[in-house]
Amino acid sequence: MELRDGQLPRDPSAAAIVNMAITELSSVSELRARVSPRGFVWRGRPPHMTNTRLAELQVEARGGRGSSYVTTRPLIAHWDPQPGGAAQELAHDPGQIAWLEGLVGATDPTVEPAPVYHYYDRSGAGIAPHIDEPRFSLITHYLVAHEASGPKRSAFFVYPVGREPQRVELAPGEAVIVYSGAVVHARTAVAPGESVTTLSIGYRLDSGTEGVDVDASR
Ligand SMILES: [Fe+2]
Repeated sequence: MELRDGQLPRDPSAAAIVNMAITELSSVSELRARVSPRGFVWRGRPPHMTNTRLAELQVEARGGRGSSYVTTRPLIAHWDPQPGGAAQELAHDPGQIAWLEGLVGATDPTVEPAPVYHYYDRSGAGIAPHIDEPRFSLITHYLVAHEASGPKRSAFFVYPVGREPQRVELAPGEAVIVYSGAVVHARTAVAPGESVTTLSIGYRLDSGTEGVDVDASR
């Protein structure tokens, strides 16, 4: 499923097919009951994301730069956590965990948080709408860096069932919390001269928390 600029197709029958796929994917996880109409739990810059910490992540991400992420058509994205001092430190940081758990409830202490950097640094790079694998069905998704010689075009999108796609603008250091196993999400393609680096940290909710509605953002 690939959507131009994150938007649904204009053709009504094509849009209906995409909406059907979004509905199906969004029903896979029991977390669907927790998803708010806007499709994400929280967005903004959390208090523990200091300028120093952001600079450390940017340096680490630059040093570990892998190959550019190209537009793919996954339906369920698999997770390949990467080691990295600053990213791991953030994933396990008591401030990060307390902030996250204050918004969604307890996370599963037996599942290691899984940070992964993604690089979108070649024209057309992005990731098509998908859900994340059940192991990490809750993400905190940080924008680490966003540079462009022209207008910044690429953005994070969520696709709440029965609603218009939601464009989630983030500045470096800002995060969005998403039940990524239950909400279709995407990164739209970067333009020539534009590059984006993100850090997603996957968590799993504690099974005792999963069915409890503690989403403060509704
Ligand atoms: Fe994802």
